[in-house]
Amino acid sequence: MDISIFGLGYVGTVCGVCLAKNGHNIVGVDVSDHKIQLINDGLPPIVEAGLTELIQQVVQEKKLSASKDHRSAVLDSDISIVCVGTPSRSDGSLDTQYLEQVCDQIGKALKDKDDYHLVVIRSTVLPGTVMGELLPILESASGKKVGVDFGLAMNPEFLRESTAIEDFYDPEMTVIGEFDKRSGDILESIYEGIDSPVMRNTIEIAEMIKYTCNVWHATKVAFGNEIGSISKEIGIDGREVMDIVCKDKKLNISSYYMRPGFAFGGSCLPKDVRALTHLGRQLGVKTPVISNLMHSNESHVDNGFKIVSAAGKKKIGFLGISFKAGTDDLRESPLVELVERLHGKGYEVKIYDKNVDYARLHGANKDYIENVIPHVAGLLEQDIEQVIDHAEVIVVGNSSEEFSNVVERANGSKVLVDLVGFMDKVSCEQHHGICW
Ligand SMILES: NC(=O)c1ccc[n+]([C@@H]2O[C@H](COP(=O)([O-])OP(=O)(O)OC[C@H]3O[C@@H](n4cnc5c(N)ncnc54)[C@H](O)[C@@H]3O)[C@@H](O)[C@H]2O)c1
Repeated sequence: MDISIFGLGYVGTVCGVCLAKNGHNIVGVDVSDHKIQLINDGLPPIVEAGLTELIQQVVQEKKLSASKDHRSAVLDSDISIVCVGTPSRSDGSLDTQYLEQVCDQIGKALKDKDDYHLVVIRSTVLPGTVMGELLPILESASGKKVGVDFGLAMNPEFLRESTAIEDFYDPEMTVIGEFDKRSGDILESIYEGIDSPVMRNTIEIAEMIKYTCNVWHATKVAFGNEIGSISKEIGIDGREVMDIVCKDKKLNISSYYMRPGFAFGGSCLPKDVRALTHLGRQLGVKTPVISNLMHSNESHVDNGFKIVSAAGKKKIGFLGISFKAGTDDLRESPLVELVERLHGKGYEVKIYDKNVDYARLHGANKDYIENVIPHVAGLLEQDIEQVIDHAEVIVVGNSSEEFSNVVERANGSKVLVDLVGFMDKVSCEQHHGICW
């Protein structure tokens, strides 16, 4: 395919060279005469393992060239891939001026092009940028319509500098955000021969995935450093701690705990987060990530309260009150906290939780329920139907299997607040997820 690449920095150069090596005809466009000269001389404009040999080869084979002529680059190609920089402004916001310039240039060239053209944004941009800011520029500069005259896609880059070429040929995944199927199909076809799962979704999801990955990586680094700093202060090697922690692929290095849902709770996580935060403070070690975990968790309970109260109803039915399905443990359950807030504000709350009900009558938690949270215990009902009949708002608090059918039966007049993630199994007009 004939492909124009806008921006010959780390991303654009690696992408252009690797696509040229895979047989595509690439013209790179940049504002820097120096970079253009280097590439046309077969020399790499950046330092990257394996790039020198590859660039020399593809330039000699006339599969890659560079130019300042953006108009010809668009007219002579089927696809334009935009890889210009998106730096931070001084207030931390994203500077999209280079992207806007390039989209304007591409749009103006498209005005004079009869053939369909695909525009792909590969620069990292916040969700909403492509559809909200760049598409209007492309349409107004070209006088043409997306989905008819040209296609649009988002294709975030996941390369790591220093292993960028290796990463290009062996990615964990290729993410495609597509305006329409035609755009996605064309984009997917340029990666033929690269053996990795292709994830196709909306443009906004693709934009968000890129930020989620990078912020997750930053979180991992900051977390590892805080564990290391506390460890050092108590005379142990944090690297040994983290090496062993990372061997657990079930809970630690896995998708477990990564799904958006309600606040964490139970007898261990809150207590242990507080204790390690306290230890850090005692040692004089700054732990801004760890010490803000409880704040983050509390804000999630606040969200739950806001969602329930926004329904404007008084009668609330909770299905599940223990911190997760299959347990009667109510210690530090964020659902208890939510119930307490609602009850305290005068909402008429009824609760069904068969495990907690058993505990109230027979179990080891009987004392806790009767003495520590008697106000909550008094709201428990033995019969799920009573809770559903009473409720104008049903809050599904945990993923107990018995609740999935109940939720369907409650459709219609009742508002449903899903703190767990049943929504994808349910069609209900008045439903609200906690963070979806
Ligand atoms: N560097 C990475 O490892 C990496 C990885 C993934 C994603 N990204 C993202 O990819 C994007 C590009 O990053 P980079 O590191 O390659 O940036 P870079 O600064 O190395 O390169 C950007 C290039 O765009 C050129 N440019 C600016 N305005 C232009 C215009 N109007 N027309 C043509 N070219 C123009 C600049 O001259 C420069 O050569 C950013 O959004 C970045 O966040 C970078």
